[in-house]
Amino acid sequence: MSKLEVTNPSTGEVIQTLDFTSDEAITATIERAYKAFKSWRHVDAHERASLLWKWSSLIKAHRDDLARLITLEGGKPFKEAQGEVDYAVSYVDWYAEEAKRTYGRTIPANTPDKKIIIDKFPVGVVGAITPWNFPAAMITRKMAPALAAGCTIVCKPATQTPLTTIRLVELAHEAGIPEDAISYIIASGKDAGKHFTENTKVHKVTFTGSTGVGKKLIAQASEQVKNVTMELGGLAPLIVHKDADIEKAVEQTIASKFRNAGQTCICANRIYVHEDIAEAYEQQLIEAVHALKVGDGFDQDVKVGPLINEGAVEKVLDHINDAITHGGELSRSLEDIKMGGNFLKPVVITNVNQNMKAMHEETFGPIAPVMRYSDLDTAIKYANDTEFGLAAYFFTNDYRTGLYIYNHLDYGVVGWNDGGPSAAHAPFGGMKESGYGREGAIEGIEPYLETKYLSIGLE
Ligand code: SIN
Repeated sequence: MSKLEVTNPSTGEVIQTLDFTSDEAITATIERAYKAFKSWRHVDAHERASLLWKWSSLIKAHRDDLARLITLEGGKPFKEAQGEVDYAVSYVDWYAEEAKRTYGRTIPANTPDKKIIIDKFPVGVVGAITPWNFPAAMITRKMAPALAAGCTIVCKPATQTPLTTIRLVELAHEAGIPEDAISYIIASGKDAGKHFTENTKVHKVTFTGSTGVGKKLIAQASEQVKNVTMELGGLAPLIVHKDADIEKAVEQTIASKFRNAGQTCICANRIYVHEDIAEAYEQQLIEAVHALKVGDGFDQDVKVGPLINEGAVEKVLDHINDAITHGGELSRSLEDIKMGGNFLKPVVITNVNQNMKAMHEETFGPIAPVMRYSDLDTAIKYANDTEFGLAAYFFTNDYRTGLYIYNHLDYGVVGWNDGGPSAAHAPFGGMKESGYGREGAIEGIEPYLETKYLSIGLE
């Protein structure tokens, strides 16, 4: 059986070695989840809710242990990791409530001798594939609604960050959620994808990750017309209009752009600033960016941790070099940026144009490319000029301009004077190649439910 070495991206040290789950064991795990579904679906919603509340209490009680794991295996600064645990648990709390609200309805029939009743039923066994950038929150965002709906779930965490998932699943079992209703496997994305899409006992696949992998999973799942939810890549634009509060825009740009060292699907990838305020915005942004301390996430002053691995560092450097080639100007030298290992100092790039890679490809790293514009419609056109449609941000203090921009942006999540729009009570998800289905809010339980209706002849 081959082994998975989980490493600390800050130090390169191996934290723990795990066995990959064999093909037979994956099949057996799915089989057990299938059997468990037959009983879990009939556990009444109030009992499912109360088990979710118990899970939530245990996660809250283990907040720091979980945060430590997130920092160890993902590099996220510890305080930010604590924030992620809070964010993760907010999904459990929300869906503990929603478990009791999977309402059906009745519809007046077209003849007096009939009645139509609509009900919601759990979809079945869910196969979840989750990413390394939010090893706690992306798990609970899928597991909590699935369990609340009456589904059972098998999760395949990212191979970079499985330890947080393992602990979360252990806590769920400690809370009394049946072992086979919530389980995990250790596998590559490819192997898990194959099992989840080909095994007829898995009824739904939910995935958070790259658009490339998402497309493959959609194609594979289509063989069985399998229900899928896809939360895929982003290329978030951030527009700072001439009437924006510059200080607020800079503060929120930092919040959006440098969350998890820029490794977030909804991170601002590219910034468009109106030429009238560009100089002031760029100057303040550079000051704020250069003040961000980079280092090991366990150092309490650190705001930007390491990137997840060498490949991630190379991609960011490629975007920086491409920008330089096309006339971009760095706020600090390339030598200064490269700190060694997986660490990169954050940088602002000015004199940017729309042809640069950073304006077209998801960077997933701590660079902030800023392009100036004179005409708002052109900025909106550039913002929409992508196959992605996950998140977008804009800053203006004029309500008419704000509503105009909001109405014209083709994105599922939009922040207006707000660089941190995510919340358990809001429906997260993208348009176009950023995926489909929503996670969070009332919408987030729907993908785990089937709608069924009963037409009753009364006479
Ligand atoms: C993500 O990167 O996919 C998740 C970000 C969030 O939930 O805010």
